[in-house]
Amino acid sequence: MATQIAQGVYWVGVVDWALRNFHGHELSTHRGSTYNSYLILDEKKALVDTVWAPFTDEFIDGLSEVIDPAELDYVVVNHAEPDHSGGLPALMRLCPDATVVASKRGVESVSGHYHEDWNFKAVGTGEKISLGARELTFIEAPMLHWPDTMFTYLSGEAILMSNDGFGQHYASAFRFNDEVDQVELYEEALKYYANILTPYSGQVIKKIDEILEMNIPVSMIAPSHGVIWRKSPLQIVEKYQQWARQEPSRSAVILFDTMWHATRRMAEAIGEGLAARDVDFKAYYMPVSDRNDVLAEVFKAGAVIVGSPTLNNGIMPTIAPIMEDLKGLRFTNKVAAAFGSYGWSGEAVKRIEDHLAECKFDIAGEGVRAKWQPDRDALDSCRALAEKVAGALPAQP
Ligand code: FEO
Repeated sequence: MATQIAQGVYWVGVVDWALRNFHGHELSTHRGSTYNSYLILDEKKALVDTVWAPFTDEFIDGLSEVIDPAELDYVVVNHAEPDHSGGLPALMRLCPDATVVASKRGVESVSGHYHEDWNFKAVGTGEKISLGARELTFIEAPMLHWPDTMFTYLSGEAILMSNDGFGQHYASAFRFNDEVDQVELYEEALKYYANILTPYSGQVIKKIDEILEMNIPVSMIAPSHGVIWRKSPLQIVEKYQQWARQEPSRSAVILFDTMWHATRRMAEAIGEGLAARDVDFKAYYMPVSDRNDVLAEVFKAGAVIVGSPTLNNGIMPTIAPIMEDLKGLRFTNKVAAAFGSYGWSGEAVKRIEDHLAECKFDIAGEGVRAKWQPDRDALDSCRALAEKVAGALPAQP
């Protein structure tokens, strides 16, 4: 249902309560999501972003509550990923003369997705389109998180439509940040940042600086997923600045798999060693843990300690995917260590250490290997490794 969010500005998106996996099955979305689309009515009429294709009918119904889509002059595509552009083909059949506005890379990616001969207008940072009393200003934000990404700023109402930036996969009955549970909101905002935007933290810092230097008023930050930041909108900008710095904290995540509980007992001994040195930690048994939730915890932590028994001369298949993520997401400022049990060959610990080194983590000490079940010495070695990790973490604030 369309919702007016400011004078002449309407949210015409959809809420996807059922979504549990995103990007195929790459990202878990326990709280669903929303696909936000914004309609601006002035002398000219503009729409910013659409929705994922399965929701096209619902989206066009909501839009049509406010205007006849044929009246649209501009359809802005901030980012061509299908969760935002999927409604475009059906929409453009209703307003074939509208101009599709996107960054130069956006025009390429929209064309690549839909192969349609729409009236395209490529825009760059600082370019404006007058709608009458108000204007749209475009700010390219490449790699936040695709090369085509841009933000659109509406003057007058001072709304920054930031697409994926500042978004959350968070279905809600409400549209604004001050109306929802703050713990849930920040859990989802951080998980979104950790799992999608971390590799581009350098660009995040630069882009935020660039926008702050523009000295434009911002009354709302309106992302294309989740709720709109209306109350103290810069709070999420400040959080992004903090998250982008990835400052180390005195905390750790132990993630492990185990076959006959030998590696589990090692994980527990490492936990004892951490606790003895006042390091807050969480331990995750990966076969029953959500990979993206664990990644969000690793993002927050100062250390990641990975354990796997040796299986087929390598690591357990439940550990391998998150190792790939740790490398791809380019987490920084992490201390790391490895451990694991084995029966005869025992390669897993070395494999994990090599992988952690590829992630450019600071290896705290030689990994602990225990043959069959860990004996007292092996468990003491686990505690000693934990102490080395603790020693490499910042002191308690
Ligand atoms: Fe990059 Fe929400 O799509």
